[in-house]
Amino acid sequence: MISLSPNAGWLEDQLGRLAAFNDAPELGGVTREVFTPTYGRSVEHVAALMEDAGLVARLDAFGNLFGRWEVEEDAPVVLTGSHIDTTLNAGRYDGVVGVLGAIEAVRILRANGFRPRRPIDVVAFAGEEPRFGIGCLGSRALVGELSRSDLDELEDRDGITLAAAMLSSGLDPDRIQEAALPPDSISAMVELHVEQGALLERRGVQVGIVERIAAPHDLSIVIEGEARHSGSTPMDLRHDALLGAAEAVVALERVTLASLSATTVGTVGSLEAQPGAINIIAGRVRLLVDIRDSDMTARSAVSQAFLADLGGICARRGLTLSVETLADDESLACAPAIVTALRDAASRHGVPAIDMISGAYHDAMIVGRHFPAGMIFAPSNRGISHSPEEYTEIGDLLPAISVLASALAELTR
Ligand code: GLV
Ligand code: MN
Ligand code: MN
Repeated sequence: MISLSPNAGWLEDQLGRLAAFNDAPELGGVTREVFTPTYGRSVEHVAALMEDAGLVARLDAFGNLFGRWEVEEDAPVVLTGSHIDTTLNAGRYDGVVGVLGAIEAVRILRANGFRPRRPIDVVAFAGEEPRFGIGCLGSRALVGELSRSDLDELEDRDGITLAAAMLSSGLDPDRIQEAALPPDSISAMVELHVEQGALLERRGVQVGIVERIAAPHDLSIVIEGEARHSGSTPMDLRHDALLGAAEAVVALERVTLASLSATTVGTVGSLEAQPGAINIIAGRVRLLVDIRDSDMTARSAVSQAFLADLGGICARRGLTLSVETLADDESLACAPAIVTALRDAASRHGVPAIDMISGAYHDAMIVGRHFPAGMIFAPSNRGISHSPEEYTEIGDLLPAISVLASALAELTR
């Protein structure tokens, strides 16, 4: 039985230190997008923490950071961790808790004199957040789902390709395939994360065991009309792309609310009108659309209803439409063996835990397509995430870290 507790002081201190790697502190949250110089410095910081914990740190060909607990036996590894990149003006817990928590879990195991029979890799995946339009890039590279041509096609909002961003971080895009692991090289993956929802808080429990991870259908939509003078063009002679987009935003809400599944969500997270002057009718609008569910039938029904409405709106307004799919991921059923290992670990430690669904996506969703994967959640204050207000009291992170340590012990015996 693993008896030591996680070190709350270290965790709090390191959450603060990581939050200081921040490209936009003036906005109040943390902005640390993948493959920026600031991100690179945060990776060096975490590599040093891994070394301090007795792990051997290395980067793979995509920039995923691993810290290995090496053992004599040559066996498939147990992988645990998450990511340290953030989305824009985000919180300090998303992803980071899973990486620091994994390092702390290893420290606990070592301090207990535990000796694993298979290697443990603590991982900080690169690019879980969608700087380049889709998320989970590092885990996609790990499972061989990111090709050389993807690196030239994926661009960030400033038109910088993923390949160029890798080069600026000292990574060679031509070696991307070297990041892909062979089949059977991972025996289990467990990702610790904050819930980013309010279920644990509402139920008054500190640990969630994830059974299913909802997946996104993400679209980049361009609506084109005619950019004309806003003063001299009569209302009946307009093809206003922004009015088409406005109707589309409302249509997405309507079809999502009509979904037969209560867990379908639909969001237009970005809407860019061009040319963007007060006295020009918008001629072109780009919308970024995110539709998610763990129920793939319901998600697909909502996507189809939305696209049908969008087609109708554009036809009625004399607008042209182009739709590009950014991501069309399958939701993941977590591996029963990992779910059981986590439930058993929680009950061994007397920690009440509930089963739940993850509404957010995670690297475990990608890894789990190829290797047994599961997740454990710690609570999020008021369920707030992707916001500077994201918060979890340190004491509420500790039970999940103890359960993680105990599950890792079982999975590596
Ligand atoms: C992950 O950050 C997500 O958008 O679910
Ligand atoms: Mn996130
Ligand atoms: Mn995350």
